Amino acid sequence: MGGFAGIHHATVARLEEQGHAKLIATCDPRPEAFAMEQQTWRFSERGVHVYPDYRTLLDACHRGLDLLVVPTPINLHAEMHAAATALGLPVYLEKPPTLDHAELEQMITADARARKSSLVGFNFIIEKPRLALKERILAGEFGAVRGATLSALWPRPASYFARNNWAGRLMIDGRIVLDSCFGNAMAHFVHNLLFWAGGPELFSWGQPAAVRAELYRAHAIEGADTFFVETDTTAGVNLRFALSHACAGPSSHLEVVLCDKAALRYVVGRQIEIRWNDGRVEKIAAEPFDPLAENHLDYYRYLRGETTRPATTLADSRAFVALNDLAHVSSARIAKIPAALVSGVRDEKEQKDYLNTAGLTAAHENFLVRGAWPGANGWEREPGEVATPADLGKFYDVVRTMAKR
Ligand SMILES: NC(=O)c1ccc[n+]([C@@H]2O[C@H](COP(=O)([O-])OP(=O)(O)OC[C@H]3O[C@@H](n4cnc5c(N)ncnc54)[C@H](O)[C@@H]3O)[C@@H](O)[C@H]2O)c1
Repeated sequence: MGGFAGIHHATVARLEEQGHAKLIATCDPRPEAFAMEQQTWRFSERGVHVYPDYRTLLDACHRGLDLLVVPTPINLHAEMHAAATALGLPVYLEKPPTLDHAELEQMITADARARKSSLVGFNFIIEKPRLALKERILAGEFGAVRGATLSALWPRPASYFARNNWAGRLMIDGRIVLDSCFGNAMAHFVHNLLFWAGGPELFSWGQPAAVRAELYRAHAIEGADTFFVETDTTAGVNLRFALSHACAGPSSHLEVVLCDKAALRYVVGRQIEIRWNDGRVEKIAAEPFDPLAENHLDYYRYLRGETTRPATTLADSRAFVALNDLAHVSSARIAKIPAALVSGVRDEKEQKDYLNTAGLTAAHENFLVRGAWPGANGWEREPGEVATPADLGKFYDVVRTMAKR
């Protein structure tokens, strides 16, 4: 009921008022910790049953359910999805489905037992302007897609990494977690970039053929908080990603799609622009978009048989999970951002402490625009080796070694 699950609860309560959904039951290992929330969400008036364990919830209620929503820690996704699909129930599964490519394959197999496909809740695939632009790309209006870049800086205070037992972790109890800005918090944007590079169908994602990466950290965590990743897709599209939590100040994210005739610039929630090579600039209004409510409604439409597929299925997540895993294989180790570049920043208004990396915006630009890696340009680390899908077998050893250091 806490964390992002609380946002699902608030959203479903609103959708219930509008007659779109009915919450039958929920669970949390510590339901008593959410007494206030249960009042706010009016559980007793709505007749919501509360269980301390998802297995007892499913045993008691599965016959009356159309779907299960799983907005829990990443390392619990597979077992909860398996329990629901064993009963034929499809799942609204929060992203990332898992960050372990082999576990994803098991989940894809398990999903075939459900009455309908599960949805992986990457927020932005169903945005109307995004789908319309992808249709225009596929129709060839902008010429061939040559490349795409993502720059994303989302400051996270030290308290973010202490909010639960899995934040910033590579493994827990010998199992893959791999929580990071790339695999978790900003996974939406990574998945978006792969979406731009996919074709020929609308709902398709570019598949990584070769990956190079440099992973870094500034925070005292097991995993990485700063990623520089490049991949060529099987269709020959070059994608570059630069993401970090090791920054302070306002958040920013920008997806750029480089086509023969135009560059498409897409800032979720703010600005969409087509910059034609001939100098014309076409602006597209970013419509108000409530990601969670819209994704719930879109999934309900699919479950009722009004549409043919969910926005992102487990199989559609293969490219994202493989890219994340191969980025770890390529980088082989997580280097420290040079101490001279990192300084503490206290945000007095928020009463929170951030770490800021000097020159991060320039490092992003050098990498995304010029292909210059930070390791060779002042960040003092060796380049990542090229990793291909054939190297996925090395993934577990690489992560275990990273976790030991
Ligand atoms: N779509 C988005 O925009 C978005 C935003 C934030 C988080 N998320 C995703 O939501 C998921 C949860 O992330 P979070 O940061 O809220 O995590 P979290 O650690 O805060 O956990 C969420 C909730 O899961 C509950 N929980 C833990 N173990 C449980 C169990 N055994 N049974 C039932 N409930 C249990 C916790 O009590 C907590 O209330 C992740 O997959 C994350 O990536 C998505």
